[in-house]
Amino acid sequence: MLSPILLRLLGVVSLLIVAARDGLDQPRQTAGDGFTLRSWEESFALANATVAQLTLDEKIGLVTGVGQFSSRCVGNVSPVARLGIPGFCLNDGPAGVRPTKGVTGFPPGIAVASTFSRRLMRARGVALGEEFRGKGINMHLGPAMDLMRNPQAGRGWESFGPDPYLNGEAAFETVTGVQSVGVMACAKHFIANNQEHWRYGLIANVDDRTLHEMYYYPFLRSIEANVSAVMCAYNQFNGTSSCHNANLIGPKGLLRTDGFQGFIVSDWGATHDSASDNANAGLDMEQPGDYILIGGGTFAGVLGIGSLESDVGSGAVTLARMNQMVTNILTPWYRLGQDSGYPPVNFNAQESDGSGSLNLNVSVRSDNHTALAREIAGASAVLLKNKPGTLPLKAAAIKSVAIIGLDAIIPNLDCGDLNECDDGTMIIGWGSGSNSLDFTVPPITALNETFAGTGTVVTTSLSNDLTAGPAAAKGKQLAIVLVNAMSGELGFYQSVNGNEGDRNDMEIWFSGSTLVEDVAAVCANTIVVVHSVGPVHMPWTTNPNITAIIYAGAPGEQTGPGLVDVLFGAVNPSGRLPFSIADDESSYNTTIVTDPGFPLGFPVIDYTETLFLDYRYMDAHDITPRYEYGFGLSYTTFAYSGLSIAASGTSQVISFTVKNNGTVAGTEIPQLYLGYPPAAGEPPKVLRGFDEVPLAAGASQVVEMTVDQRGMSVWDTPSQSWVRPKGTFLVYVGASSRDIRLNGSF
Ligand code: BGC
Repeated sequence: MLSPILLRLLGVVSLLIVAARDGLDQPRQTAGDGFTLRSWEESFALANATVAQLTLDEKIGLVTGVGQFSSRCVGNVSPVARLGIPGFCLNDGPAGVRPTKGVTGFPPGIAVASTFSRRLMRARGVALGEEFRGKGINMHLGPAMDLMRNPQAGRGWESFGPDPYLNGEAAFETVTGVQSVGVMACAKHFIANNQEHWRYGLIANVDDRTLHEMYYYPFLRSIEANVSAVMCAYNQFNGTSSCHNANLIGPKGLLRTDGFQGFIVSDWGATHDSASDNANAGLDMEQPGDYILIGGGTFAGVLGIGSLESDVGSGAVTLARMNQMVTNILTPWYRLGQDSGYPPVNFNAQESDGSGSLNLNVSVRSDNHTALAREIAGASAVLLKNKPGTLPLKAAAIKSVAIIGLDAIIPNLDCGDLNECDDGTMIIGWGSGSNSLDFTVPPITALNETFAGTGTVVTTSLSNDLTAGPAAAKGKQLAIVLVNAMSGELGFYQSVNGNEGDRNDMEIWFSGSTLVEDVAAVCANTIVVVHSVGPVHMPWTTNPNITAIIYAGAPGEQTGPGLVDVLFGAVNPSGRLPFSIADDESSYNTTIVTDPGFPLGFPVIDYTETLFLDYRYMDAHDITPRYEYGFGLSYTTFAYSGLSIAASGTSQVISFTVKNNGTVAGTEIPQLYLGYPPAAGEPPKVLRGFDEVPLAAGASQVVEMTVDQRGMSVWDTPSQSWVRPKGTFLVYVGASSRDIRLNGSF
């Protein structure tokens, strides 16, 4: 038995760990991985003292990327060895370390959004942080928190869907998790980076209220989580480049006014103006250091024209500003204790296959991370349809099954560092937000293992061949059809299956919908699994031969096991749609602008839809989607009762009881939506709370959700503040944005 003294000591240590993991500023406390978490104040003082010892060359080295082909990581700056400052390693991506080996391919942002679980959002952040730290990376280039303004947006899956509140909560939990193990997190892409076509210069025009309530809100939550850096985006915002936009990134700009204390780093090549323009506007670090595609290289000087050094020399950039840039960079580094005992970089992104002497091939995988990736894959799967008696499956009761679709098999993983593979199952989109997928377990492997030894006859047609698929299904007791759609980053204008980043439309790829319908025509028990980066057109959902549908999204490397867990009932589905599924783009109130218009150049995109995205728009215009925001079935049922609403200071505390009134254990995801007084001009309902409530059959629990003053405010442009409108607020509590079970008001 442990002695009482030891027990007390352990208690103190775990309290300290919890404090650090909550992202609170608790000076001088040791967190889980043995680093010293400092306060911002102390870190700022240390950074200032260090800056006083640096030469101008050293300062410039710390704010300038070393060049994209010289970087051992995706981005590096020059070290100052004499003072123990490393050449900071900044690395992709938001869903796991890339491009390198020995890492976990975690599910992307949209998958963890689909869990509606703060617990899993935080746990994923911690696990990501552990792998980045294990590779010696100082900064995780994530999370991405660009709203899915349009369902076809190429990088929508990197973030957390179209709703600002869900994005904000997921950003907060991810940043807190990553930084809890001493790795700096970077909120990106600031701001209005919402489509891939023309992203290198499009002009997004966003009004002030929309900016604050929608696109900026997740960044604000990141600041509240003590985020270390913010990445300014490629595009222009209201006519000025994001990285040259003092209103956004300057000392008196939006971020700093709200208390941001870290540094601003450019997206790779997102600097389109001179060194002094960018530095004086508020840019602290330029990456990757040289010119790429359409920008970059301003600090080092492009083709010998201008440079930060000459601008400091001429006084165009003051020494005070130069010092401030370095201080901003060193402050979060000190805050997370990276000045002491931080692991050195042990890989080389330039040789992503693990070759060469700089790759020490350290595996940062662990059983816990694999288990977490599998748990998120299962918890993000959304059960859209389940004819009674269909799911969960019992393998031994199935005499014959046909498994159909290209989406069942592992893709060719050797298709470049950006995962532009479209010849197998869809695990994650492509681009810098993708991950290394060496350890993928595809659906076919997991399904074959499950059926092995059960006596079930398994027939396969592992392509989207419209003759072979139905032929395999004919006469079978069960057919499982897997189909997909994918999108990704524009990058160097690569296109995958004819899509330049953004999806061309909402159709399932490779005639997937026809395959589903043709299989269902010959098999009265057809289960459909959809792997997709976002909403897809599913015209066949009401087909009576389609007995179950699982929207499995983009599940990461443990896709097969996660799916099998849900299909066979080891996991009772609790995933909820983090977007609505409607039939076409027009139901969403925005378009992807593919035509720059006249005169040729970059298009101007006016965000005239303001606050009305996705369910916020569909509710206001009586558009009935096929499946609404927040929707997802379970193998059990839940009853809601006892709504109570009470004021507590300036907050409102909303509580109610959820009961599992079915026969198996399950997890309910209750959601809270607010209806503002009409004069406020808000959408009919806005998400303001969610929770994850695991319940045994017959069990019930009281759930409490608090809406604070900001949560019932609008952004008031004239006063530049959050103002709570006068009047009555409606409270909607339910199982989705349209399945409201309890109504109240305050
Ligand atoms: C992306 C960023 C990424 C960076 C480095 C850019 O193209 O927009 O999200 O972190 O590249 O790979």
